[in-house]
Amino acid sequence: MKRSVLKLVQQVLNNFNLALTRPNNNLGRERYISLSERMDYTRTATLDLLAHEIIKNNVKGQIAELGVFKGEFAKYLNRIFPDRPLHLFDTFEGFDVRDVENEKKNKFSTGDQNFSDTSVELVLSKMYSPDKCLVHKGFFPNTTAGLSNDLSFAFVSIDADLYQPIYEGLKYFYPKLSSGGYIFVHDFNNQEYSGANKAVLDFCNENKIPYTPTADGWGSVVIAK
Ligand SMILES: C[S@@+](CC[C@H](N)C(=O)[O-])C[C@H]1O[C@@H](n2cnc3c(N)ncnc32)[C@H](O)[C@@H]1O
Repeated sequence: MKRSVLKLVQQVLNNFNLALTRPNNNLGRERYISLSERMDYTRTATLDLLAHEIIKNNVKGQIAELGVFKGEFAKYLNRIFPDRPLHLFDTFEGFDVRDVENEKKNKFSTGDQNFSDTSVELVLSKMYSPDKCLVHKGFFPNTTAGLSNDLSFAFVSIDADLYQPIYEGLKYFYPKLSSGGYIFVHDFNNQEYSGANKAVLDFCNENKIPYTPTADGWGSVVIAK
């Protein structure tokens, strides 16, 4: 395509607050998630790259997501790591009133987004290998009670939107993260959920842990070990 045409397309997209981005066409391997099915190009492309590091470097450990909703991100985790247990933590009924009260008290968010329109059955129906899914339905971190202390994780997605579950998620998962593993926290640069940013900063500063912001749609952050 001619440069002038691309420039015009870019200008039109800018009017809709959208950006044109060039995917990496020199990966030298097949993508785990094809270009046509990406929900947020940078988010899933970053997952693709991080997952490849884990696979290439033979990083041991299980996979988890805290904040699953309808499973639209979790389905990629399950497909990329079909042989690893995938822990799915969610109320599957939306935000808990205890977390929402904390959000309002601290003016992090209104906490009024409704995530109750989902079910465990719906999520499992999207999975490539549902037999590998371990569902922990209920209020996090209470749902970690009784899990083995020996669990270790290679990749964890934290997408719970609110301060308290994100902070608790980092407290639970970071010590269990394998060397070479990653925690991917959504909403780090999303002012609509400012508690996400504060939870990451509080946890990382308290524990002197570095983090890397990414440029996806809601500003996810990567925490590596
Ligand atoms: C933005 S949605 C997750 C979206 C999903 N990761 C995706 O990419 O499609 C946030 C989810 O976090 C869950 N959540 C928030 N706080 C929670 C808590 N304390 N315990 C369990 N689930 C929680 C909500 O129920 C909601 O389903």
